[in-house]
Amino acid sequence: MAVATRIEEVRAEISELANRAADAGELMRAMVKLLHDRMLKYNWVGFYMLEPGAEPPMLVLGAFEGAMTPHTRIPLNQGICGAAASSGQTVVVDDVARDPRYLACSLETKSEIVVPVFVRGKVVGELDIDSHFPAAFTAEHQELVQHCAMLVGKKLEAAAR
Ligand code: SME
Repeated sequence: MAVATRIEEVRAEISELANRAADAGELMRAMVKLLHDRMLKYNWVGFYMLEPGAEPPMLVLGAFEGAMTPHTRIPLNQGICGAAASSGQTVVVDDVARDPRYLACSLETKSEIVVPVFVRGKVVGELDIDSHFPAAFTAEHQELVQHCAMLVGKKLEAAAR
């Protein structure tokens, strides 16, 4: 199957998950599983969420699929994860070996994307994906992962209403 077709299919399935899920927790668990199962180059998929009230702020590992990571708590001044959460920007790293910010999770990881999750304009967490393939996160993958993060933000917003 062509990659573009797979991305479109998975995008539609993710939107359906968001419609069906009772809450953001259920959506995040189903989402990491679907992305990990269906996207061949998404070898570790997980959410880090900001710990409520923590000072200094701390990202805490939430739902994930893939090998256990030593990084279950990440301060905002560390890692690609910290960079994405503190800047509120998507961070794509094509070759993690060349990025001094990178915190190693698996020796096999070659590239990574981290997309912030927003609730009413504020970062509340992020979706992190690692690949065993270099430069796996091309523009259409970025769009898919940003769509996923946006749906989780909307679900959290709905619950906070
Ligand atoms: N690589 C991340 C750490 C989390 S693991 O990839 C699961 C980082 O540099 O922040």
